[in-house]
Amino acid sequence: MRLTALIFDLDGVIADTSDLHFQSWLQVTPEYGLLVDHALNDRLRSRSRRASLEIILAENGRELSESVCEDLMARKNQVYLQLLQGMDASALLPGVVPLIEEASAAGLRLAVGSASRNAEAVLRRTGIRDRFDLVVDGNRDLPSKPAPDLFLEVARQLATLPDRCLVIEDADVGIRAAQAAGMWSVGVGPVEQTGQAHVRFDSLEHVTLADVLAALAEAA
Ligand code: BG6
Ligand code: MG
Repeated sequence: MRLTALIFDLDGVIADTSDLHFQSWLQVTPEYGLLVDHALNDRLRSRSRRASLEIILAENGRELSESVCEDLMARKNQVYLQLLQGMDASALLPGVVPLIEEASAAGLRLAVGSASRNAEAVLRRTGIRDRFDLVVDGNRDLPSKPAPDLFLEVARQLATLPDRCLVIEDADVGIRAAQAAGMWSVGVGPVEQTGQAHVRFDSLEHVTLADVLAALAEAA
């Protein structure tokens, strides 16, 4: 296996933002009688803002007009942006910086492939934007995960083949996107969310590039 690029999902892989997204939804959904709990929040990992709202509505057996949906998403994002003001490097998940440094030293290209429209803000607040060659995020308005488009766009911009890219994801929907793109996948987190990946780790803490490559070679 010859890799040229590592593509990191952002939320839940690089930065611990899942609870901030959860808190933001909790600020705006109760007025419409919509319930969001931890289990439902986990199903929103890697889903675009709109897809997240659609899942929340479906789960609650509700429909809302397009203008109410737009308003809800805008206000959810305002809350999220406020919460981001308090974010710093302490939000970086364990092991991610050492892995980035190691991959960079090994000559791999580094990219972020995220559904979020706030990816640049999160990367800057956590101080690691400059470590990445490329960020492809929700502002590109590409079909959202599990569609492969976001990851394929990374490969296209890095002028590399999909099977030379390794995606690191914390969500089932992101792993499916990586596999649909014909890329290698590493799952980070519980088996229920990441069990479909080529290889899986509970977290990236103490996981070296050699560990990842050895596990992939075994899975290949
Ligand atoms: C993903 C998160 O990375 O981005 C989701 O895992 C979130 O929880 C999605 O809904 C969209 O994020 P944003 O920042 O554009 O609302
Ligand atoms: Mg994620």
